Amino acid sequence: PEGKPRTQDLAGRTVVVSAGGTREPLDPVRFLGNRSSGKQGVALARTAQARGARVTLVAANLAVRPPAGVRVVAVETTAELQDAVRGAAADADVVVMAAAVADFRPAEGAAHKIKKQADGSAPPLALVQNPDVLAGLVADPPRTDGRPQVVVGFAAETGDAEGDVLAHGRAKARRKGADLLAVNAVGAGVGFGTEHNAVTLLDSGGEVVGTVEGSKDAVSDALWDAVVRVLPL
Ligand code: CTP
Ligand code: CA
Repeated sequence: PEGKPRTQDLAGRTVVVSAGGTREPLDPVRFLGNRSSGKQGVALARTAQARGARVTLVAANLAVRPPAGVRVVAVETTAELQDAVRGAAADADVVVMAAAVADFRPAEGAAHKIKKQADGSAPPLALVQNPDVLAGLVADPPRTDGRPQVVVGFAAETGDAEGDVLAHGRAKARRKGADLLAVNAVGAGVGFGTEHNAVTLLDSGGEVVGTVEGSKDAVSDALWDAVVRVLPL
C-alpha cells in the first residue's frame, strides 16, 4: 500500500538503520533480551527507501518483516550489531540507531545448558556492560572517506522523580553527542508495542528541533525531514 508520494530528498544518500533488540546468550538455548519488535526501525528503513536512499537494515531479532529491496544484515548480539553497523556505516551518510541495545551481557556465556541444582540453589548471574554503539559512532566515526556523517539515536523515556521525559532526553542527548536524538515518551498507551508515538527531536546540545505525534511512519518521515535539514551538501 502506497502512502502519500514522497520527495526524493534522500536520493543518492546511503543510510544505515539498526532495528529490533539485541540478545545476549546465557547458554546455548537461553538469552537476555528485550521486547523491541523492530517496527520503528523497519518503518525508518521503508520510508528512507521511499525517499530515494540506499538502505542497509541491521536487523536484530525482528518480530516483523523487513521491507523488500532493503539490504538486511541479521545480527543477534550487541557485539554483532556493533560490527555490522560500523561495517555498513563505512560509506554511509546517515546512521540511525533505532535498535534496543542490551545494556548488559552475561560475563560468561555457558558452553552447555545450565542445569538445575539438586539442592534448589540458583546459579549466580554476573553481568558486564556492553559497549555503547551510538556513543562510539560519535567518538570514533566509522566513515572511511572522512566526510561528515549524521548520527541519530532513539531513546524511550518515562518521567520519574529525577525529571520529566524532556529533561531525561536532554541529558541523554548531551551525553551521547548524536546529531539528533529522537525521544519517545513511553507509558500508558504510548510508545512501546503500540501504533501511536509522541516523539521530540533534540540536537546534540539538547535543544528541541522538532516534535511529532502519530504512527511510526509519521515519526520516521519527521525524522528524515530533520536529517535532511542537517545533511551537508
Ligand atoms: N545504544 C547503543 N548502545 C548501547 C545502548 C544504547 O548504541 N549499548 C543506543 C540505542 O540504540 C539508542 C540510544 O543509544 O539509539 C539510546 O539508548 P538508551 O537505552 O536510551 O540509552 P542508554 O545510554 O543505554 O541509557 P539508559 O541507561 O537510559 O538505558
Ligand atoms: Ca539502555
